[in-house]
Amino acid sequence: MGGPARFFAEAADEAAVVEAFRFAEARGVPLFVLGGGSNLLVADRGVDALVLRVRVRGVALAGGGDGGAGDGGRGPRVLVRAGAGEGWDDLVARAVAEGWAGVECLSGIPGDVGATPIQNVGAYGQEVAGTIAEVRAIDRATGAAVAIAGEDCGFGYRDSRFKRAWRGRYVITAVTFALRPGGAATVRYPELQRALTAPPGGAPPPLAEVRRAVIALRRGKSMVLDPADENGRSAGSFFMNPTLEAGAAAGAVARIEAAGVLAPGEAIPRYPAGEGRVKLSAAWLIERAGFAKGTRHGAAGISTRHTLALVNRGGATAAELLELARRVRRGVLDRFGVALTPEPDLVGFAPGDVDDLVGDAPAAGQGR
Ligand code: EPU
Repeated sequence: MGGPARFFAEAADEAAVVEAFRFAEARGVPLFVLGGGSNLLVADRGVDALVLRVRVRGVALAGGGDGGAGDGGRGPRVLVRAGAGEGWDDLVARAVAEGWAGVECLSGIPGDVGATPIQNVGAYGQEVAGTIAEVRAIDRATGAAVAIAGEDCGFGYRDSRFKRAWRGRYVITAVTFALRPGGAATVRYPELQRALTAPPGGAPPPLAEVRRAVIALRRGKSMVLDPADENGRSAGSFFMNPTLEAGAAAGAVARIEAAGVLAPGEAIPRYPAGEGRVKLSAAWLIERAGFAKGTRHGAAGISTRHTLALVNRGGATAAELLELARRVRRGVLDRFGVALTPEPDLVGFAPGDVDDLVGDAPAAGQGR
């Protein structure tokens, strides 16, 4: 979906990235860094910029260590450095085959390695924040390569400094992950636990089994790339799960209860999100606001397999998809007072075109 790039370049090494900066500067056009393109909505009018795809390749062992922000000292580590242009799932497959634990639950996610730190890719109980030891990037201000420690990236739920204070400042060229050789798989997401049905007290399942189970779960929700899947053309989750401060969450819960959308005895899906915050399920809120799976809006629609994915059913325009996104957002806001924030990058739109979608919530105060 969406229109063309004004300029497009691929950079196979850091020197080519710097050359791209110069090209954009000389022509006075902005630079937009593209990863695998799996988490974008591109405007129909296209992108008036130099679109740069970083193709830096290579996977190398960078020695042992005990890094990895937030993974809490669980045994020895192997440091694996991957070029930003490596396919994310190829790296996960390699880690699983080698017996390096730490990213097995992130199986089946499309896109490139270099994009994963930006929004702190996460699924099924893991986030890349748990294993990123270092991010290598080129600073656009100086053209110099810098190494940023994982713990300095300000990772949060689908969030990092790269999306905020550092927006547009760095082009990521490589990421080093601290993985646990021979380590146990992470099986903490309830849906994954059910899919694995491990015997109580038994050995943890092999990484390969966890990878298989995660891919099967994702496939069931049309969240793996499959050209034959009618729900396949999406950017994954279109909205983030709203994470509310305790007071705002209590208000939302009261509005949901008052709206009469709960079956007798039904609990609202909600999860503790740290510092007293509560994460609600965007998919659930969208459904209860009256948007069923399979809802259509022209050639755009809601996936028949997961309410959080907006799909191009064939020939949809970006404008059509945004109209649907607005309808959904407005519906959830009117009904429950919760403002949903899009998860994919909206690229090439005039600020006025998308302000109402990305702006902060009014009443419910969707804080971060
Ligand atoms: N639910 C519904 N309807 C649906 C799907 C889900 O009501 O159609 C409710 C159910 O209550 C369910 C709950 O939502 O128990 C959670 O559903 P799911 O496990 O599918 O997770 P999610 O919160 O909808 C998030 C990520 C996904 C990630 C899964 C698994 C976000 C925005 N999305 O989805 O990430 O794969 O968890 O960890 O956090 C993505 O970011 O693009 C993405 C696919």
